[in-house]
Amino acid sequence: KVTADTDHYLVTQRVAQAELIPGIKTEIWGYDGVFPGPTFRARKGRWTVVTVRNELPVPTSTHLHGGVTPAESDGFPTDLILPAGYSPAPPGHHSATGRHHDTTRDYTYPITQRAATLWYHDHRMDFTGPQVWRGLAGLFLITDEIESALPLPRDDRDLPLMICDRSFAADGSLKYPQRDMTHPGADGMFHAGIFGDVILVNGAPWPRTEAAAVRYRLRLVNGSNARRYRLSLSAGTITQIGSDAGLLAAPLPREDVLLAPGERVDVIADFTGLPAGTEVTMANTLGEGPTADVMRFVITGPAPDDTRIPVTLTTLETLDRTRAVAERRFDFRFGGGRWTINDQPYDPAATMCSVREGTVELWRFTSDFHHPVHVHMGHFQVLSRGAGGPEPGDAGWKDTVDVRPYETVQVLVDFTGHRGRYMLHCHNLEHEDMAMMANFDIV
Ligand code: C2O
Ligand code: CU
Ligand code: CU
Repeated sequence: KVTADTDHYLVTQRVAQAELIPGIKTEIWGYDGVFPGPTFRARKGRWTVVTVRNELPVPTSTHLHGGVTPAESDGFPTDLILPAGYSPAPPGHHSATGRHHDTTRDYTYPITQRAATLWYHDHRMDFTGPQVWRGLAGLFLITDEIESALPLPRDDRDLPLMICDRSFAADGSLKYPQRDMTHPGADGMFHAGIFGDVILVNGAPWPRTEAAAVRYRLRLVNGSNARRYRLSLSAGTITQIGSDAGLLAAPLPREDVLLAPGERVDVIADFTGLPAGTEVTMANTLGEGPTADVMRFVITGPAPDDTRIPVTLTTLETLDRTRAVAERRFDFRFGGGRWTINDQPYDPAATMCSVREGTVELWRFTSDFHHPVHVHMGHFQVLSRGAGGPEPGDAGWKDTVDVRPYETVQVLVDFTGHRGRYMLHCHNLEHEDMAMMANFDIV
């Protein structure tokens, strides 16, 4: 459906040679052959249609993470785009949603949601980890009238930063350890997921960027398979203004921010007053050696800055637990050689529960390990963590929450949007591929 109110894009997934490390060629699988893929900018109230053509040697499925998306465009793990030149589909090989496979398809995003930093990535069943690792991920930024009226840094002072770790072999190729997909549970050595030893920011290792002594907006996105970061700046201040699914009600000064896989944190970095020549390091205090350093800003000197951080960013309704029409528990646990939810390994044809569109439910996540829990379609607010209330990093509308080992996190999920089959899963991509996903139906 293409109208005057639709932005239409064509993207081709293909194998390409990229220069991620200066002077070295690395084969990637990229949207448009680049890593990260192209950054989409969408506006609330306008439709975005992305036509994806698959010229890779493998099937793919594209999911807009954080999107309030109709189910048929949500990138269901078995709703595949077949590789071009690889047809016809084997008989009986249907997607769970009943549509047949093709080498090109349209993903339709009506964009009814508030301004937010989203990202898109591959979601093919059993292979999301290796396919994202090879490069199938990019950013998708939504703006709206509320956000554009704020005096926040914009244009070249609004920096989306997709942070992810990778490993490279001596010849420059990306190194993803082989997994035995016939016995996924046998991979004890990958229990915690796959980690790289190089941190990339927008595809570049340890980048250096010049910055004036002014305020910048940094949209921090953790696109890693399994790595968590605690990010801080060696000079200047950081103030959080947004979370996964949109702006906070009010700015929140932070010492550092924690990002589990899939999470986003929107901050204002204030370099005002720093002398020219200052090198500001963004460090990852959870890392060691080369994974402790993320990027640096070299201060060029003062410059005009008419931005400020308003005391009120947006009006944000705080969900009350009395709004919940149902309570459910999802237990994320290793069992029977697989990562499971409520003892069930993922079955694309099964559904764990049905929820009513337009309602709010209380979902309780429990875990035996670190699991970044992600819900499709429904955005949520954190109600409690362990015995206490939400922590500073839990503020605002979220779609992913880091559940720590043996911790219970309660969230209030708003299922306003679309009906159909959606999923929740662990966003440690190796856990996800080893069956830690479940479907739910919105009816
Ligand atoms: Cu970012 Cu279902 O995932
Ligand atoms: Cu998602
Ligand atoms: Cu997990």
